[in-house]
Amino acid sequence: MLSNKSIVLGVCGGIAAYKSCELTSRLKKLNANIDVIMTKSAAEFVTPLTFQSLSLNQVVTDMFDKPKYWEIEHISLAKKADIIVIAPATANVIGKLANGIADDMLTTTVMASKAIKLIAPAMNTNMYENELVQKNIETLKQLGYQFIEPGEGRLACGDIGKGKMAEPELIEEKIKDLLLKQRDLEGKTVIVTAGPTREALDPVRFITNHSTGKMGFAIAEKAAARGAKVYLVSGPSNLPTPCGVERADVESALDMYDAVMALMEKADIIIKSAAVADYRPAEISSEKIKKSDGELVIKLQKNPDILQELGKVKGSRVLIGFAMETQNLIENAKAKVAKKNLDFIVANDLRTEGAGFAGDTNVVKIIDRSGNVEEIPLMRKSDLADIVLDKAISVCK
Ligand code: PMT
Repeated sequence: MLSNKSIVLGVCGGIAAYKSCELTSRLKKLNANIDVIMTKSAAEFVTPLTFQSLSLNQVVTDMFDKPKYWEIEHISLAKKADIIVIAPATANVIGKLANGIADDMLTTTVMASKAIKLIAPAMNTNMYENELVQKNIETLKQLGYQFIEPGEGRLACGDIGKGKMAEPELIEEKIKDLLLKQRDLEGKTVIVTAGPTREALDPVRFITNHSTGKMGFAIAEKAAARGAKVYLVSGPSNLPTPCGVERADVESALDMYDAVMALMEKADIIIKSAAVADYRPAEISSEKIKKSDGELVIKLQKNPDILQELGKVKGSRVLIGFAMETQNLIENAKAKVAKKNLDFIVANDLRTEGAGFAGDTNVVKIIDRSGNVEEIPLMRKSDLADIVLDKAISVCK
């Protein structure tokens, strides 16, 4: 429930404004107080009366409306808000905020507020990918604004691509995360590894695996939302950097080893969800390997086991591994806990439906040093991330 929480919902001019009606209704059902500010163009898509009826509050559209309260309205809304959510957010409003322009009720309120800010962009794909829009989004992220990524699909303009406003359900979840989650990792430093590694054969080819980074990025995002200083060491991944997370991009297992070891002194908690290659080609050809008539035999050489090396110098840090197996999940994962000196391991079996690489869900067993096995059912990687962090905190204590 969001009783006693005050949400200011900024609605900009885009067809996705209709989805914000559902968002308002969902938040109202959680007992939040909602004040809606609509830009002039938003009111062309949905009438203020719709939001007024759903929020049971007056809707503000104009700086110079007769004030409902005896305070200056944009200041009073700015002060009372626990969170300001802009959904949908247009390129125009994102651009204004990133460049300090406050020329209407919404932008003045945002700029006068110290509340948490959450932005849900919605626009045409080309516009979303435009360098200036991306630069403005990056600027706002650096300033601590939270973003919820648009989805991909068929857009109202007929184009297919990224730009659909995130679904109201996801925005609601993010708002709950931001307002309700304790900042229980405040003061802690967390290192998360994510994604695959790439082991080069020649300038053209490499050996890799199917990891997308989704699991690790979810952990990094949740840890930052819970107040930690987060370093994310990621193999090649197209995922955007979560808000408030410092990211180091690496390619190979050796690169990941160097990056993690350079950071490890700072860490209270290290979570290794990356799928690191155990072997790399013994030699990297400087030229493209040419096709010949016979077979090609590639000699592989062992990579350092980063997690095992961390286990040797662990000290009081909490050290968490992941295990990806296709057979004997528990037995193999237990062996890794002992061999790598881990506090616990999160084990997933590639053969279980909804588990492992690439999807948005996982199914895992968490196994601790004493051999206790906790079964975690199918759930979203973002929810699993919270469970892993809860467990890490319980080990810290
Ligand atoms: O990225 P996604 O698409 O969301 O997929 C998520 C995932 C399947 C990659 C993730 O849930 C997962 O299982 N990650 C670990 C994969 C893996 O490498 O498992 P492993 O059993 O081979 O390794 C055990 C542990 O040792 C891991 O924490 C791994 O990071 C670490 N390791 C392994 C080899 C190596 N040379 N160095 C390491 O640090």
